[in-house]
Amino acid sequence: MDATEWPGVYRIGRDLYTRNAVPGESVYGEDLRSESGTEYRRWDPWRSKLAAYLANGAPAPLWPGVRTVLYLGAAHGTTVSHLSDALPDAMVFAVEKSPPVFAPLLALARRRRNIVPILADAQLPERYAADVGPVDLLVQDVAQRDQSRIYRENAAACRAKRGILMLKIRSVTQRLPPNRVVRQSRHELDAAGLKVGEGVDLGPFSREHVALSTGV
Ligand SMILES: C[S@@+](CC[C@H](N)C(=O)[O-])C[C@H]1O[C@@H](n2cnc3c(N)ncnc32)[C@H](O)[C@@H]1O
Repeated sequence: MDATEWPGVYRIGRDLYTRNAVPGESVYGEDLRSESGTEYRRWDPWRSKLAAYLANGAPAPLWPGVRTVLYLGAAHGTTVSHLSDALPDAMVFAVEKSPPVFAPLLALARRRRNIVPILADAQLPERYAADVGPVDLLVQDVAQRDQSRIYRENAAACRAKRGILMLKIRSVTQRLPPNRVVRQSRHELDAAGLKVGEGVDLGPFSREHVALSTGV
């Protein structure tokens, strides 16, 4: 198992891993692997856009000194569980609006001490921002038409220093070519003073998705 440029993330060849915070437990059927008494979970880029982002060349360092993460669109906690592994000293606030999906997220959080699940609509950050407080890293993965507005409002409400928007192009519009949609979203983030970095295409793992980092 080799260390990567991202703290808490390891690799064997092209496969990414995180050190399992709950040894013996696989969260979504991912492979577990033990080396020198430490157990690792394979981080599947076909199941996690953040893993796809790393696999496709995310700039390093991505999360230096991060102590608080706000994750929007947590679903069952697939990606959140790997952030929980990779950043054991950080608190991950995981927002999800769908009650059926929230139940397994809640169960996951009960078994890990650094996940705070929040049942809420990410379009209304004022409902949870005071409880969350300022965050070091914002990650957003919600298939909504107004993804850029949701990201900007959460970044402002929780004073996010940096973040990554997993932009699902076809949720914004079906009418415009993908590069126009990306350019428009970049412009909106830039105009909000968020300082957008290089975009990373998430294909082939998540087609028509681009990760836009801010604050780098
Ligand atoms: C693609 S899934 C996220 C997968 C997850 N990020 C992962 O990698 O493990 C998108 C999730 O966003 C949630 N979602 C969509 N709109 C939302 C909103 N406005 N507020 C909070 N969650 C939302 C959906 O219910 C769904 O569970």
